[in-house]
Formats: sequence, structure tokens, C-alpha cells
Amino acid sequence: MCGIIAYTGKQPVLPILLDGLKRLEYRGYDSTGISIVSRKKIKTVKAAGKLNMLESKINGPITGGCGIGHTRWATHGAPTDENAHPHTDPSNRFAIVHNGIIENVDALKKLLGKEAVYSSQTDSEVLAHLLALQPGDLLHAVREVLAMVVGTYGLAVIDQQHPDTIVVARNGSPLILGIGENEMLAASDMSALSRHTNQAVHLDDGEIAKLSPQGFEVIRMDSSVANKEAITLNNQNANYDRGGHPHYLYKEIIDQPDTVQQTLSGRLDDRFSTAHLGGLNLEARDLIGVKRITILGCGSALYAGMAGANMIESLARIPVTAEAAAEFRYRNPVIEQDTLYIVVSQSGETFDTLAALREVRRKGGFVLGIVNSVGSTIAREVDGGIYMHAGPEVSVASTKAYTSMLIAFALLALLLGRSRDVSPQQGSRLIADLKQLPDNIRSVLAMEPEIAKLADKYKKSQSAFFIGRTNGFPIALEGAQKLKEISYIHAEAYPASELKHGPLALVTGKTPCVVVLPNDDLLPKSISSMEEIKARGGPVIALTSAAQTDEDRIDALADDVIRVPDADVLTLSAVMGVALQLFAYHSALSLGRDVDQPRNLAKSVTVE
Ligand code: AGP
Repeated sequence: MCGIIAYTGKQPVLPILLDGLKRLEYRGYDSTGISIVSRKKIKTVKAAGKLNMLESKINGPITGGCGIGHTRWATHGAPTDENAHPHTDPSNRFAIVHNGIIENVDALKKLLGKEAVYSSQTDSEVLAHLLALQPGDLLHAVREVLAMVVGTYGLAVIDQQHPDTIVVARNGSPLILGIGENEMLAASDMSALSRHTNQAVHLDDGEIAKLSPQGFEVIRMDSSVANKEAITLNNQNANYDRGGHPHYLYKEIIDQPDTVQQTLSGRLDDRFSTAHLGGLNLEARDLIGVKRITILGCGSALYAGMAGANMIESLARIPVTAEAAAEFRYRNPVIEQDTLYIVVSQSGETFDTLAALREVRRKGGFVLGIVNSVGSTIAREVDGGIYMHAGPEVSVASTKAYTSMLIAFALLALLLGRSRDVSPQQGSRLIADLKQLPDNIRSVLAMEPEIAKLADKYKKSQSAFFIGRTNGFPIALEGAQKLKEISYIHAEAYPASELKHGPLALVTGKTPCVVVLPNDDLLPKSISSMEEIKARGGPVIALTSAAQTDEDRIDALADDVIRVPDADVLTLSAVMGVALQLFAYHSALSLGRDVDQPRNLAKSVTVE
């Protein structure tokens, strides 16, 4: 949700800012802008639209070694040139870029008086105006302004009177410092830093940092000094390369045999037929003390959590619920000592998930995180957890990270199951199935040509339904989510049993229904749902793991069948999920959509 990049050093800053923005564009892409201290003046260029619009507006090089850049996902004010960041004060001394929301913007505008003239409709511009009124050095001027602010921010400021200084601050919106040789950077995420340095410092909420080519200092809002330690980052540059593929989304889909392997790596314990999860910070005794589990996440992470709830409940026989993090935190939840709370997030920065985590911990609950982004805020604030190790996910629609969330839940379900009633023999069978998963995903990927044909056949549909029962329902939810977010075809998911209680009224010959049919006890009942759809003339796409010989009725009833390898409760969602990812990808492709950066969305939702 909006991306910030800032650099001060000896190198020309313009290409560094543009490259940083390219890497951050997935965070928001409705407008972009840069400000550079150039020949003792602040030069700002901004443009509505994607980064190429900004690049085409920059006529010739802008000299200078200190500057800030921003890619925006609009909250206050439409995505226009004027509302794009950076924003400056009226005298053009300061330029700021801001992620987050200033909640008391009206009160601050009142403070600035009626004579203040704003050049945008954003809440952020007020910060530049307030800065212009502060005496003292930049660091303390920023601190004074932030003391007046109610809201969230990741902020970077430059000042023409201090041409090689940048001040950055964080409250609720991530900011990471990058330490180079005679240069300093700051960015909203590692992706924009990793090309320049492997030394990073995470700012915490309420911290303000002053950067110069010589180094950095960090203070808190009460002016006390914060001593920060640098961490060494793995070089993840390669993951930001599309590897010759047309889209990040495609690369991330076809990489899944490998990314699943990375999630599993070193975590399967053949000797005791269980999972080895060192980061949980829970002893065997703690595991058997768990009486309930509550899983919290947003969007696809929530759907992965719903699948995870089924896995854990069926193997460990512990009651598990999965809930939207934002709803949970606002209903004054009862937090219990013997409940294990699990937050799930690819980015580790999703505001609602983070807020739910903080609410649980504030009330004394123990929280595990299933997180992809190493060192992210959620990863740092949980009591323990499982890193997915799926590598950075660039495309806005989650694919490989969603699948790795499922695998993390599978490992946890195996561990909890083996600490209860799952026998060593059953544990071994589950491990064998998990080891088989990369190959099963390869088999699904090999079906791409036939899935692409199906996508083309149904691409003109206005609406589609996805239905499934118990283990099939979260798969249906995620299938509908993928299709709607990247193809813009209206898609809804229902438990198959709910169809006749309402949605069936909408089924016509023009509304394809994807029926998720795992090879389980409920298969005959799900086949009855297919009959109900066929009786109303609805086209049926059966997604099944049932063998053809066993279930000829599926083939007789369905207009189209996607038959994936059979899998048990731990791997079913991953195997079927990949087929639905390919279906969504090819639907979007044949409709000419921007598959990596779908309209209105952003990768990391760091506002409420
Ligand atoms: C997935 O395709 C979505 N773009 C979105 O629902 C995402 O899963 C959600 O915003 C949660 O993100 P997180 O995993 O980074 O917390």
C-alpha cells in the first residue's frame, strides 16, 4: 500500500529512485513521483498512472545525490498528478512522501489557518505545510510535526537547506533503512534495498531516523536515542526477476514445485513421523495443552487459514476457527490462555492482521505467525512461528505464498496430530503425501494447455460460481478470489450445500459453476449439487481428484472436467489450488487484463 524509496549518497539518485519505484510498484500503482535536491533546489516530478508515465515526464537527467520517491495507492483524493506524492510546502523548501492516513487532517488544517493554500486533496500535504513552520534542525522539526499527528505513517522528508539529509519516520507503516558504503537508503520494503546493500535496520513504530551519506541516527518521539542493530539480508535479487516469463504471476505459479519444497525443507521428521518446527517456541507439553485454535488473516491468507483449520481439526481433533482479522479485532474478542492464536500473512505487514495480533497479545494471548516476509512487522511481533520460505511474491494476486501457507498449516497439523491421536503409521503416510506434493503440482502444471482452453471457452461469462463442501469450500473461495481479482469476472463461492438456499436463483446457461469435488466421503453429495446446477442449465466445470473409473457420473454430468492427482486433507487444497490459479491466469490473459497489477488493488494492505 504505497511504496517509499529514499537515497542519499555519492551516486546519481534519479536512476536509484526509478529502480526502487519499479520494485515497489506492486504496493500501489495509481501514481508515482520523485523529489531530488538538485543544485540547492528541490525538483519534483509526478504523474498519474504507472511508473512509465513518470519516466516519460522526466526530460533529461536531474542531477543530485539525495532524493525521495513514492508509488501511490490512493486513499485521500483521486489518482491525479496533483495528488501524487511527493508534496511540498508553499516555499518548496521541504518535500515529503507519506504512506498511511492522517486521521486529524481537519484539525491540522484548522491550525494552519484559512490562508493556507493546498495543491492537492491529500491528507499528506498538510505535513509539508506544518514542517515549514518549525524552527530547528530537520530531525527535530519532523518530530515536532509528528507529535501533532493522529494516524499512521511511513514518512520520508528532504530539505533544500540540508541537501544531503533525509529524515524518515514510522508509525504503523513499514520502513527499513539500508546501510551502504558512504550512502544510506530507506524503503517500505526490502525489495527496493537488496540491490544496493545487505545491511538493513527495521524502524519500529514511533521512531524517527536522520540519514546522511555518513550514516544514521534514530530517536524516539520523546527525543530519546534508539540504538538499532543492523541485520544481514539474504540476497534475494534473483526473485525479483521474471526469469524470461511474461508475468510475475506466471512465474510464481510455475515455481510452486520448488517453493513448496522450500517450505517443507528440513521440516519433515521421518524418524518420529512428525513435523519439525523449530520456530514455534512451544514444548511438547505446551502442544498438548492447546484446547482451541483461532486463525486470523485477510483475503487469501484467511482462505488458507480456513483450509488449515480443516487440516488441524481433522488430524488433531482440536476445535479450530478461522476468522477475518479485522472483524475479530473489533468485536472485543475473549482471549483465553489455552487457545493458540495464529496470524497468517504473506507480507507480514497487513494492517488488520497486525492489529488483531496486537489485540490478542495485549490481552495476554500467545500468537504464532505464518509469514513469508522475513523480518516483517508481524514476524517480529509474534511469540513464535513458521516462515514460509516461498521467496518474495511480486504479483498482487497471491499464488505461491498462498500455497506455502497451506503447507505451513499441513506441517502444524501433522505436528499437533502426532502429539495427540495420529499414529506413527498414519504420520508416515501423511509425510509421504507431502513429499509427493511437488510432483503432484508438476502434474497439474502439465495440464496448462487444457486449462487455458477452458479459460478461453468461459472468458465471456459475466459471472461464475465456485462451490465445494467442507475441505472443498476454502478451495472454492480461493478459486473465486483468484478469478475475480485478476480477470474481473464476477465470481462468488458458496458451500455446495447452500446453493439451493438462494444462489441457485442466479444459475442460468450463462453462469459457469466450478464444482470442487475431492475424492472424499461427501463426493456423492457434491455430485448431487452438480445435478441441481445441470437441471437449471448451468454449465459445470468439475474440479476433481476422483479417478475417472470410480466416478463416471462426474464425467457424464460435467461439461468440463479438470482431474488432478488424488491427495489427502493436507495437500488437497494445494493441488486443486494450482489448477484454479492457472484457470484464473488464462482467463485474465485472454481478456487482456493486467495480471500482475489488477485495478484498484495493492499487494500489501498497510492501511485499515
Ligand atoms: C490475494 O490474492 C490478495 N491479493 C489478498 O487477498 C491478500 O491475500 C491479503 O491482502 C492478505 O495479504 P497478506 O498475506 O500479505 O497479509
